[in-house]
Amino acid sequence: MSTRNLAKDQPDSFVFTDEHKVRIEKIIAKYPKGYQASAVIPLLDLAQRQELWVTKPAIDLIAEMLGMPVIRVLEVATFYTMFNLKPVGKCNVQVCTSLSCWLRGSNDVVKACNDKLGIKFGETTPDGAITLSEVECAGACVNAPVVAVGDEYYEDLNYETMSKLIDTIKSGNPPAPGSAVGRQGAEPEGNRTSLTTDPTQTAPMQDLAAAKQKHEDAQEAARKAKENA
Ligand code: FES
Repeated sequence: MSTRNLAKDQPDSFVFTDEHKVRIEKIIAKYPKGYQASAVIPLLDLAQRQELWVTKPAIDLIAEMLGMPVIRVLEVATFYTMFNLKPVGKCNVQVCTSLSCWLRGSNDVVKACNDKLGIKFGETTPDGAITLSEVECAGACVNAPVVAVGDEYYEDLNYETMSKLIDTIKSGNPPAPGSAVGRQGAEPEGNRTSLTTDPTQTAPMQDLAAAKQKHEDAQEAARKAKENA
């Protein structure tokens, strides 16, 4: 992952939409007085949803709204790869290349993106439709390799399934998110080896009196064996 810097070309100003201003009031109200800085990530997220990337004027405004030094907001925006620091296409294909995804074949997923889109990380297709981004752990390692497209996660990908996914994105008809190999949630490949009983059924009651008697019998047998030794 290369260094993350703000884009050189920045707009002159940023204002939240009226709808976002209402949401911001509710977000900030969730935190105790004096801790409004905790709202920095949700506010950066709203700024990004509004303009598809996080601009310097947006960072300045958020710092002012939350009573934080600008550098603190900058630290958050530049640390998390979920925040785009320069303009992106309408569709941002974010490929995780961190350890779990790399071990499970993210190199093949990246190659499929490069071959199908004709662009590398940090680039956007000439029509401005799709940006290819490299991201750090997307938090879905158990279903690696993982690609996030907007808010949706596509998992268990390989060269072929990633290529097909790009075709569907290009046609404007992406499939439902989730595992490309049919895994439910984060269950293991193949059959489950634990949590196999029906969770809606009450577990059988343990016979505590019988367990106590069994323990006492064992103690008595051990005592006798010691006496006869
Ligand atoms: S390493 Fe890719 S999701 Fe965690």
